[in-house]
Amino acid sequence: MNNLNPTLTNAWKSLSVLAQKERSIRQLFEADKARFDRYHVTVKDVLLDFSKNRVDDEVWNTLIQLAHETDLGGAIEAMFSGKPINGTENRAVLHTALRNRSNTPVYVDGKNVMPDVNQVLAKMKTFADKVSKGVWKGYTGKSIRSLVNIGIGGSDLGPVMVTEALKPYQNPNLDVYFVSNVDGTHITEVLKKVNPETTLFFIASKTFTTQETMTNAHTARDWFLKNAHSEEEIAKHFVALSTNSNAVMEFGIDIDNMFGFWDWVGGRYSLWSAIGLTIACAIGFDNFRKLLEGAHEMDNHFRKAPFEQNMPVILALIGIWNTNFLGAASETILPYDQYMHRFPAYFQQGNMESNGKCIDRSGNRVDYTTGPVIWGEPGTNGQHAFYQLIHQGTQLVPCDFIAPAVSHNPVGDHHIKLMSNFFAQTEALMNGKSLEEVKDEMIREGKSPETIEKIAPHRVFEGNRPTNSILVKKINPSTLGALIALYEHKIFVQGVIWNIFSFDQWGVELGKVLAKSILPELESDEPISSHDASTNGLINAFKVFRKV
Ligand code: F6P
Repeated sequence: MNNLNPTLTNAWKSLSVLAQKERSIRQLFEADKARFDRYHVTVKDVLLDFSKNRVDDEVWNTLIQLAHETDLGGAIEAMFSGKPINGTENRAVLHTALRNRSNTPVYVDGKNVMPDVNQVLAKMKTFADKVSKGVWKGYTGKSIRSLVNIGIGGSDLGPVMVTEALKPYQNPNLDVYFVSNVDGTHITEVLKKVNPETTLFFIASKTFTTQETMTNAHTARDWFLKNAHSEEEIAKHFVALSTNSNAVMEFGIDIDNMFGFWDWVGGRYSLWSAIGLTIACAIGFDNFRKLLEGAHEMDNHFRKAPFEQNMPVILALIGIWNTNFLGAASETILPYDQYMHRFPAYFQQGNMESNGKCIDRSGNRVDYTTGPVIWGEPGTNGQHAFYQLIHQGTQLVPCDFIAPAVSHNPVGDHHIKLMSNFFAQTEALMNGKSLEEVKDEMIREGKSPETIEKIAPHRVFEGNRPTNSILVKKINPSTLGALIALYEHKIFVQGVIWNIFSFDQWGVELGKVLAKSILPELESDEPISSHDASTNGLINAFKVFRKV
């Protein structure tokens, strides 16, 4: 990986100048009838239209130049070939090897990792087949009916997002639950719904030390043992998805029931690894394999396609233009598919834990903006919640709209209504509505001149709001795999250009350490004075409140 402040590149300097000029997306379309043709790409069943951005050919060519000047090509090869690009932890970043369906060798420290990857996948298949076919029995000889994934962060969000997005593929004999929060409410509510005789717990934790996960895992274990006859029966109801075999054994899970992975798999990129076992059991291993295949196809595209036609590179460069040159502080992800409702949350972690960094690869504070805030909800719900601000607020909020052409639930005219909203929103965000148009509209509505004068300004939409549209044939394991890989690589490209390390998460550590130090102070009723006045005051008030 090179180590270059991107603002020193010629491209960045040119982009800063180009950003001074106003560009109307509407006018760009008027001036170029072929704009859509030139500003969209298709990879298999996924189409990305990036034409509704404030980008003309000059800007676009300069963004491509930025990718070259920051040696994006070298960085892509470094990642795929197992170089230790996670520089602060000296680790390779190889979630792509987990879905390397072509099985070409991938080396880490001179060792091909593919045999180990394939071995774990084979073990996952055997296990998932037993669970889905009802062959895996609980301690009273009954088949498993409930899967409970206990994990947090990437060990939760990945499996939740995928099992929700692929619910139409879920085995009807299995219910899937997720417990992540250390708030006892989460596990309590799940345990109310499941039967110890027919429940399988997946303790999903790369480190097997995460406070939330281990607390929930111990609570689940205690609950199970209250019902079971002996500790040996844990083997039939608990599996571990982890890299830490010692901690797994210490917890009491049989090592045969451990599914391993490696430190070159980042937590938020781990759904492709053994962390995906809950997914594989829920939707069947064949579908899990298709998920891997879909991602692998996007990986191949990302590795080989020229930047101008490279879908993840395009998404990343458009994001950089909006963030660094047009001043957008956040971006939304808006899936017009109810099953995809956790996709924004998943990539909120993916983006913000990866690129929420202010120190560059030389260890200096950056003097430019890095990762934006990521947020979103499914359409059309979001339209009735926060789109007001996107249409008429003072902040520029670039949006990614994602929708499938084919619904899993073709009831009545629901899907074309949904899709008409999907198309209408990006058009409206681009075109807006001028004062003249509003006034004409109000005259047609028969409004008085006084009303028009007073109300018309409030009905004006400035428009020119940038959007990307991602149209997918259908949300199935393969297209979902491709979509996830698309966004993962977008994050990577941006991290490369921003000259930051995208694959560590030191920022999360501080909270973990502080929470651990405060815990013993909460165990007694004695007032404390070891913190700042606010923290002391809050802790002491808590001690008083909890007594009543
Ligand atoms: O939130 C920080 C983090 O390290 C994430 O990257 C990870 O997904 C999560 O914690 C869970 O970690 P683990 O899988 O080790 O329990």
